[in-house]
Formats: sequence, C-alpha cells, structure tokens
Amino acid sequence: MKDKLNTLNDRIQEAHLGGGEVRVQKQHAKGKLTARERVELLLDANSFEEIGMFVTHRTTDFGMEKEIYYGDGVITGYGTVSGRLVYVFAQDFTVFGGSLSETHAEKICKIMDMAMENGAPVIGLNDSGGARIQEGVRSLGGYADIFKRNVHASGVVPQISAIMGPCAGGAVYSPAMTDFTLMVENTSYMFVTGPNVVKTVTNEQVTAEELGGASTHSTKSGVTHLTAMHDVDCIQKIKKLLSYMPQNCEQKPFKKHYTVGDEERLKLKDIIPESANQPYDMRDVVEQIVDQDSFFEIHESYAENIIVGFSRIGGRSVGVVGNQPMSLAGCLDVDSSKKAARFVRFCDCFNIPLLVLVDVPGFLPGTDQEWNGIIVNGAKLLYAFSEATVPRVSLITRKAYGGAYDVMNSKHIGADMNYAWPSAEIAVMGAKGASEIIFRKEIAAAKNSEKKLAEKEKEYATKFAHPYRAAQRGFIDEVIDPKDTRVKLMKAFAMLENKVAKLPKKKHGNIPL
Ligand code: HXC
Repeated sequence: MKDKLNTLNDRIQEAHLGGGEVRVQKQHAKGKLTARERVELLLDANSFEEIGMFVTHRTTDFGMEKEIYYGDGVITGYGTVSGRLVYVFAQDFTVFGGSLSETHAEKICKIMDMAMENGAPVIGLNDSGGARIQEGVRSLGGYADIFKRNVHASGVVPQISAIMGPCAGGAVYSPAMTDFTLMVENTSYMFVTGPNVVKTVTNEQVTAEELGGASTHSTKSGVTHLTAMHDVDCIQKIKKLLSYMPQNCEQKPFKKHYTVGDEERLKLKDIIPESANQPYDMRDVVEQIVDQDSFFEIHESYAENIIVGFSRIGGRSVGVVGNQPMSLAGCLDVDSSKKAARFVRFCDCFNIPLLVLVDVPGFLPGTDQEWNGIIVNGAKLLYAFSEATVPRVSLITRKAYGGAYDVMNSKHIGADMNYAWPSAEIAVMGAKGASEIIFRKEIAAAKNSEKKLAEKEKEYATKFAHPYRAAQRGFIDEVIDPKDTRVKLMKAFAMLENKVAKLPKKKHGNIPL
C-alpha cells in the first residue's frame, strides 16, 4: 500500500506540473497565472475537487504517443465560491497551447453535465489555441459536443467564460454562447482566424491586439462584457458577477441582509437639467437609487447610449437598464438595442427583477441605422421586454417619445409598476417636431411663421410635455417626487417578490435574431 501511495503522489505531482516547470515559468513571464493557480484563486480555500486528473489523450499520429501529460491540457472539477457550488474548467496553455483534444473535450463535457444535473454555474477559464491540430476531426467533434451542451445549459445554469490568453478558432464559440465573457487586457485575444490568415486571405495587416484584444471586443464588437487588468482582477470580477445570480433557473438570487435607514435621496431633485436638451449622467441616478456601491456595470464601453448592470435594492439583486443622455442623447440604436436585449433576457432566465430608467428621445434616425437593421434590432429589445416574466419596474425621468416609449418597458408590454418624475414628457415626439407637422398649414399661413411655431410648440408642450396624461390613463401608476424614488422602488420590488406570470404554452418563441 505504501508503494502504491508513493506512486499516486508522484503522479499527482506530475499532473500538477502540467507541461513542466519551464513552461510554467514561461506562463508567468507573460504575466499570466497557470491554470492551477487560477482555479485556486477562484475557489474557496481547500474546496477544489479535481475530476479526471489522470486523463491523457489517445492520439498516436505525429509521434503524439511520446508526448503524454496528465490532465491533457485542462483542469476540471468542482468547488465553492463564497460557499456556493460551482463547476470549473481551466485550460492549461503550457500543454499543447491549451488546445482541445477529444479527451480534453470529454473532461469539459463531464463537468457541464454534472452542473446541469446538480443545478450549479459553470465557469470556464479559457486559454487555448483551438482545436488540437494533430487530432483532426476528433477535436472538431469535441468542440461540437461542448457547443451543444452550452446551448442546452443556456437559461438553466449561469455560464461564465473568462478569456485569459489567446483563444483562436473553435475556442471562441463556446464562450460566445455562454452568458458572460470577460477578457484580460494585453494577454488575451479572441478571433476566429488570426492575423496571419487575415493577411493571406484579405491582405489586411492587423495586430492580434487590434483584431481581437480586450479593447477591441469591449468597444467595437461587444463580444466581451467585462475587461480586467490582469488575471487576479479577472477572477475577482467573476466572483462579483456570480454574487448577483442564483445557482440555476429554479432559484431566486441570494438576498443580502439590509437594514432600512434614511432612504430619502435629496440629490435626485437636482439631477435633471433646466434645459430639455442638456445631458446628464444616468449613472448618477442609478447610484442614488441602488444600495451603496452595489452597481456593477456590464458592457460599460460598448453602445454607451444605454447602460446595463447588476445592482441591489434593499439587498435584492436587480438588473438595471437605463438610457444614457450623455451619449447620442440616449437614443436607441442597433447596438444599444442588442446590448440591452441580451441583458434583459439573462435577467429573465435567472429570476433577476428589472429596473428600467427611461430618458429616450426615440430611435436614432439615418441611413446607417436603417441599413444596419434598426427595425429588426430594435425589435429584439421590444421582444425581450415583452416576454420577460420577472418583476419589472420603470421610472421615466425625462423623455419617453415615440416607439421608444413603448419599447422601454412600458405598461403596455407588461411592466408591473411604472413611475414618472414630474419632469417626464410622454408623447409621440418633441413639441417642435410635432408642431411643424400638425400645424404646418397654419404656420405657413401666418404673417410671422416663427412666432406662430413658438405659440404652437407651447400649446403642444402644455398638452403633452408632462406625465399626467399617461397617469390619467393608468399607463403611469404614480408621479413621484424624485427624492422618494428609492423608497418607492424598494417597496415595489418587495411587493413583487413572489410574482408569478406565465407565457402562452409554446416550444419556444422566435426572437428576431
Ligand atoms: C496543437 C497547438 C495549437 C493547436 C498552439 N499549439 N495551438 N498545438 N493544436 N491548435 C502549441 C504550439 O505548437 C506550441 O507548442 C504551443 O502550443 C504554444 O504555441 P505558440 O504558437 O508557441 O504560442 P503563441 O506564440 O503564444 O501563439 C498562440 C496562438 C498560436 C496564437 C494560439 O499558437 C496559434 O495561432 N495556434 C493555432 C491557432 C489555430 O489556428 N487553431 C486551430 C483553429 S481551427 P510547442 O511544443 O512549440 O510549445 C479550430 C476549428 C474549430 O479551432 C471550429 C469549431 C467551430
């Protein structure tokens, strides 16, 4: 028995070294942690239980039978984060560039199946050169096995992907199908085809960073939801993200203890500028409304005309969606609609109530928007809100014009409680545009057409540039003093805590993709 234990310990030591000490040092020299260090950092101390430590690949082509490493380039298992069960895989770049072989894929699939059966999140720490080239179609099949599981797990358990090194080819599609992707600045890349292939095929000269670095994917493509300065920052952000989510779609998010205190927020009285065209930062409104320091913004630098993120109100997890007047005057466009729709759907999957802050002059006009499909993309957000069955509360702070009024969680598409500040303006369009259309003849016939337009504008504004018409019809439940906003929202979310709403029976809807 003693000999057998010695053999076991030798093997464990070998498995822990993965591709060997030199390669571990190489990983550190690049400013990256090893796969094992990442797992240790992510999970609560001593909670990690490894599964499949001694798995090796089965390839004999290209002399591969001589290159055998325990674990085959991926560490898999389970453990806890803040006491909550999670399943984790961490690719080891020091073994064949973290590339995915048939057995590497089998290990990932095994923990994904367990995560589904036991209702706990899956966290993938990705660092991979894609399909293991020496294995051909077997590695492609391995990817497809993972992709199918990503889709089946979608909406059942949260899936989070951290990109912590180069991820090429198939290595990017699994993260793309998970709920959230984080990228580490300067050490991670995501692309379907790398700079060399791009140069050969299109003659474009581009660096890996420009093509698929964290900055590119957090600003231009929106592929990544969060960026991190380094590996440690990335892992801390994963833990924070998890803290707002439940374990699975059958559960509610964990509620933090909260003691009610002075909930009046006097600062909210002065947030809306005098002039209707002057911008203000919707984040300032969010900060005043949610529990202190609880706002965790997602997709911060992408489609900045809408803000989305997690927060807590009275200790309860709440997803926040808000128009941002600081960017494009808060108009909805293609990218902001896609960004918000995806966030709304995540919250709806995992029973996270939604707070929607509205200040929207309408959809962004122009050929660029029309030709890029604002119709079908705007419809995504409309669809996402309309199908969401979680508690939904709206607050109109200023403008709610045209179709965008309907889209932004209006009463008509199923919001539960709709509040407005006295500064709200709810109408088909702004007073000037509206007067120019409906009083066109009268204005043209007037001696002083400018004066006439101003008169008509005033008349229209008096009729519609306020929330009381909407409140008369019950489309707004209450017009509130801004300082009372937090109290009203705390009460509303508490009242809606046990909401049950069902959609008509169907296989699945057909969101305009
Ligand atoms: C086998 C691989 C590998 C791969 C890297 N390695 N990628 N081995 N299969 N896919 C090995 C290298 O041979 C090298 O081994 C070690 O990993 C480190 O790689 P380097 O190139 O030295 O590292 P670096 O310079 O940092 O470049 C990383 C990289 C590059 C950008 C990821 O390795 C690369 O371009 N790899 C190929 C990417 C790719 O085209 N993958 C296949 C995609 S097709 P040694 O022994 O020298 O240390 C695909 C299809 C799936 O994924 C489609 C599903 C939809």
